[in-house]
Parts: sequence; C-alpha cells; structure tokens
Amino acid sequence: MSKVTVVGAGNVGATCANVLAFNEVADEVVMLDVKEGVSEGKAMDMMQTAQLLGFDSRLVGCTNDYAKTANSDVIVITSGIPRKPGMTREELVGVNAGIVKTVAENALKFSPNAILVIISNPMDTMTYLALKSLGLPKNRIIGMGGALDSSRFKYFLSEALGCNANEVEGMVIGGHGDTTMIPLTRFATYKGIPVSNFLLEEKLEEVAKATMVGGATLTGLLGTSAWYAPGAAGAYVAEAIIHNQRKMIPCSVALEGEYGETDICCGVPVILGRNGIEEIINLPLNDKEKAAFKASAEAVRKVNAGLKL
Ligand code: 2OP
Repeated sequence: MSKVTVVGAGNVGATCANVLAFNEVADEVVMLDVKEGVSEGKAMDMMQTAQLLGFDSRLVGCTNDYAKTANSDVIVITSGIPRKPGMTREELVGVNAGIVKTVAENALKFSPNAILVIISNPMDTMTYLALKSLGLPKNRIIGMGGALDSSRFKYFLSEALGCNANEVEGMVIGGHGDTTMIPLTRFATYKGIPVSNFLLEEKLEEVAKATMVGGATLTGLLGTSAWYAPGAAGAYVAEAIIHNQRKMIPCSVALEGEYGETDICCGVPVILGRNGIEEIINLPLNDKEKAAFKASAEAVRKVNAGLKL
C-alpha cells in the first residue's frame, strides 16, 4: 500500500492532496492540520468527488493526529504562513522555521523512512533547515520550488509561442526567489527546437521576467500566495517518487560541490525516483549562467543565515 501525508490543509496542502487523489498517486492520502475539523472536512468533501471524478484513492483528514500518518512513503510539508501582497518569501523565515521543524519531527516519528517534500516558504531555506536539523540522508529531503517555477516558465513560454504548455520543455534553477531564480532560456525548447528559433531575445527576456515574479504577480491578484500550481507541483514531485518515475525535475537539494556550491539547498535538475533524489544532473552552464547561479546561491545563503540552527 502506498501512502502520502500532506501536512497543512490550507490552500496549497488541500490542492496537493486533491491532485494526489485525483491522479491516484497513492492508495491513501492523509491530510493533517492544526485547525480542528478543517482537514477532516476537506477530506470528506474530496471523497465525495470520488464517484464523480472516478478515483480510487482514499483521503483521510485529521487534526494533529500524527498516528494517522504512520508509514507514509512521502510527507509533503506545506505548513506555515503564506506571503501577503508586497511581502517576499524570505520574510517568512522566522515564523515558518519553527513550524516546519516541529511538524517534520512529529511526522518522522511515525514514518521514519519517509521522503520529505518541502513546499513551505522560504522554500530553499526550509529545505536546508530540514537537512540540518532532522538527521536524514540528503536523498530524502527535496524542496519542490523548481518544479513550480519550471511549470510557470513553460506556461509563459507556451503563451508567447501560442502553443500548449506540454509542447514546451524548460527548466528554472537556482533559489525560489523573485529576483534570484534562473529560467534557463538557452535550454528551453519547443518540440526539441530551441525557443530562440521562434522568439526574439526581448520576448524571451520578458518570459523569464514574468516567470521570476510569477508568484508575486499571483499574490498581488489573490491577496495571498498562489495554491493551484504550488499544490500540483508538490503532487508532481511526490508522484515521481512514489511511482519511481525517474523524471528529471529541478528541485532544491543539498549540494556538496555540485555547481560549485556546498552547505546549501538550491534548485538544480535531479532525477527523482523511489529513493528520492537518485542523481543530480550537472548542466553545462555558460559563464553568465554560472554567475547567475552563484548570485542566486548567495541570496539563499543570506536567508539561511536567519535560521537558528
Ligand atoms: C509561489 O511561488 C507560494 O512560493 C509559492 O507561488
């Protein structure tokens, strides 16, 4: 039996659980929240779509009852406060660090072999906190930011190209920050053909910029941070692990010399499978991209410095 726990049944967590169940990623999906009744209610509401949508996964909701999460293969952590308009993800570090550490410790007591997928912001720093404080091997700690940012990149590329987003390939690496993430336009393709064959340099710059502020744009429109794509990105990462898909997905992972960085979690392409991170892919970056990655890692390191480890 496969099982995924989603900690935090807010907008992101509930969306993630919903996508996991709808796609039948796991036999059982448990949602846990601190707010009395919320995850139970959302799980029941979703279960009442099972017949309509035709899925077999079982959704369970619980209020802070970690025993219900026992023996999960993957634990997705979405807990913490989301950003409000005008706020950066980095401003959330103090409040969210305590929450993320506590829920991860509690969940691991009941699922000592689980792989962690971190969504809570600031995502790279929360992933680093998990790495430094939980004593897990690095292959079991994965920040999902690159999956989300890459999906946004492919959306903006597809809008510019006038095609379906599934026709496009593209990756975003670096930190999950408005000014620091790196949409790799040089490697992006439309059906395997470099996008520079179809789009002018200025247009590609526009696409990259829109991708970088993708989260902030939505926070401005919604009054809180986005949830459909962040939740679906968490489910996408969990699915690659549970189904041993060996997909290449940019994720925030511990770097030990790769990309010239150590003692940091930052977004790079990895192969995700049953062991979590199966492999880190070393991209042939040019000097400009290397400099951008270094600057991005520096920005992540500055936020990490705010952690009390
Ligand atoms: C976003 O980019 C919430 O960080 C998340 O929308």
